[in-house]
Amino acid sequence: MTSFKALRVHQTPSGPTALLESVTLADLTPGEVLVRVAFSGLNYKDALAVTGRGGVLRTYPRIAGIDFSGVVEHSSDTAFKPGERVLATGAGLGEWRDGGFAEYARVPAEALVPLPTGLSLLEAMALGTAGFTAALALRRMLENHQDPAQGPIAVTGATGGVGSIALALLKRAGFATAAITGKPQAGAFLRELGADEVIDRARLDLGSKPLEKAVWGGAVDNLGGEVLTYLTRTVKPWGNVACIGLAQSRALTGTVMPLILRGVSLLGIHSVQVPRAWRLAIWELLGGPWRPADIEARIVRAVIGLESVPAAAQALIAGQAQGRFVVRL
Ligand SMILES: NC(=O)c1ccc[n+]([C@@H]2O[C@H](COP(=O)([O-])OP(=O)(O)OC[C@H]3O[C@@H](n4cnc5c(N)ncnc54)[C@H](OP(=O)(O)O)[C@@H]3O)[C@@H](O)[C@H]2O)c1
Repeated sequence: MTSFKALRVHQTPSGPTALLESVTLADLTPGEVLVRVAFSGLNYKDALAVTGRGGVLRTYPRIAGIDFSGVVEHSSDTAFKPGERVLATGAGLGEWRDGGFAEYARVPAEALVPLPTGLSLLEAMALGTAGFTAALALRRMLENHQDPAQGPIAVTGATGGVGSIALALLKRAGFATAAITGKPQAGAFLRELGADEVIDRARLDLGSKPLEKAVWGGAVDNLGGEVLTYLTRTVKPWGNVACIGLAQSRALTGTVMPLILRGVSLLGIHSVQVPRAWRLAIWELLGGPWRPADIEARIVRAVIGLESVPAAAQALIAGQAQGRFVVRL
């Protein structure tokens, strides 16, 4: 191949701008493995990068896309062979390395995971970084003794990629769940995924005391700010709050009271630089015992081409996510 299509973000006088253009292998950041990309996913972080918001891309120009699935074309590392099906999430893709919004990606072997037998290339990116992150949160909660008997798990940003897959994973693991959402009209979508209760975020009484009535067994939070604070003060003794996102705010406020009077744990969830053994184990779970049912029908909102990524990214920034956009290369 001489040149191929990529969605690359450039620094311009009017700010970072995403351009659909032809690039060559010489343009890509280095790595031992060249992959013919089949699918990528559109994540909130990608939406920030593609719409020119700061904080994601470290240098320009940079091909966006923090995850992909595809087939190995060439490898100078014996761990991977041409024809092998692989996926990658995080590991600096679409941040300080060129990412998955291109027909080819070149990455360090360390960043790649063999495609689990239970997932197709499309299903792997229907889950993508969102599914991996939701699974990482569940794993950390279980390791910290979260038990269904403690009560329902509140999931915020519930219609988004992480939130919707978290609902499916929690349900499968035997937890009751409550979807806290800005889109109560998406109730049917959320219940089908596994929500036992759907709560309109606008009607939520966030309270103000250091401790409010404890109602949740634990929580998975994608919003940050005042909603995260609310969760810490309403989780029951020994429950876990998995802190994943900042779709509403980067602020972390509150008191130590939930931690020292209820033993509540605030668990940090970080999907980019993850020990390789954890990555492999989590993807095996996602392709096996934790595999959500009907991934394509329930989680995929649309399969789109590279040219449609900027408009879909605008929708995510506007909080209009519902399930996952999968990008077909
Ligand atoms: N820690 C990590 O490694 C990691 C990994 C992946 C994602 N994240 C973060 O997790 C969050 C969710 O990611 P995602 O890919 O699931 O995003 P997404 O698909 O765009 O979904 C985000 C959801 O959050 C809610 N939301 C969006 N904007 C909002 C706003 N301004 N105020 C309140 N709610 C808003 C909406 O849900 P409702 O309408 O249902 O409320 C939306 O569907 C993002 O902040 C992302 O950066 C972190």
